[in-house]
Amino acid sequence: VSKLFIIGLGPGDAKYLTEEARHCLQSCTHIVGYHLYIELVDASIRPKNIVHFELGEEVERARHALELAAQGHQVALVSSGDPGIYAMATVVFQLLDQEQNDLWQSIDIEVVCGISAFQLASSLCGALVAHDFCLISLSDLLTPWPTIEKRVKHATDGDFVIAFYNPLSKQRDWQLKQSLEIIKAQRSGNTPVVIGKQLGRPQQRLIKTSLQDIELDMVDMLSIVMIGNSQTRQVGQHLYTPRGYINHSGAQ
Ligand SMILES: C[S@@+](CC[C@H](N)C(=O)[O-])C[C@H]1O[C@@H](n2cnc3c(N)ncnc32)[C@H](O)[C@@H]1O
Repeated sequence: VSKLFIIGLGPGDAKYLTEEARHCLQSCTHIVGYHLYIELVDASIRPKNIVHFELGEEVERARHALELAAQGHQVALVSSGDPGIYAMATVVFQLLDQEQNDLWQSIDIEVVCGISAFQLASSLCGALVAHDFCLISLSDLLTPWPTIEKRVKHATDGDFVIAFYNPLSKQRDWQLKQSLEIIKAQRSGNTPVVIGKQLGRPQQRLIKTSLQDIELDMVDMLSIVMIGNSQTRQVGQHLYTPRGYINHSGAQ
């Protein structure tokens, strides 16, 4: 049976790869992905045949993986983090949806979840995402800016903890600034902000700052920016967002 696994590698280090992902990778003959992500996979479990693509070639990657699987190979299409969060799973399903290809329709497809960047960022600083939250990608390459801006406004109105993916790049530096302005209009300057850089990798850095102190040059493309809600607090070294388990007088 033709098989395509769409696998989340987690944020970086092999210790964040799930047992299920490891098991699926070992059962494959081919691995398809962005070359930096393929390098994250330990050689001992990496499928023999490697097909790597550049950033931005997501549709080509998905198409190639479908073609290989249709030829009867066992294929791993890999994403960093979770494959369903701003990643390859939806590209595959969109191709299947839009192109009537009988061979593709016969492929057995399985999505294997991974730890997303926001989960690691949240737990590294305590329990930042402990209540309702929104993930928002600030990349307007695939989503029009007015849509993103509307979502930032509504997430702020709803007092959600917010995680910004794709916060900025060399070509795209104003979206984060504008989003922070929207949030600052409603949340206190002391609201905790965490910038997680290259989480789970040797270069990992966690910068704890606030809405009033964040500087754009602290952030790059390999960062996730997490903004607390109006209740997010610091206790010792940890940040957490309370969820009403304990009432306000402190009694249980
Ligand atoms: C195309 S998205 C992929 C997200 C990925 N599927 C996930 O679930 O984490 C790329 C963005 O995710 C965030 N990201 C992914 N891995 C990260 C890591 N190890 N540390 C910090 N941010 C990361 C950054 O905001 C980056 O610009």
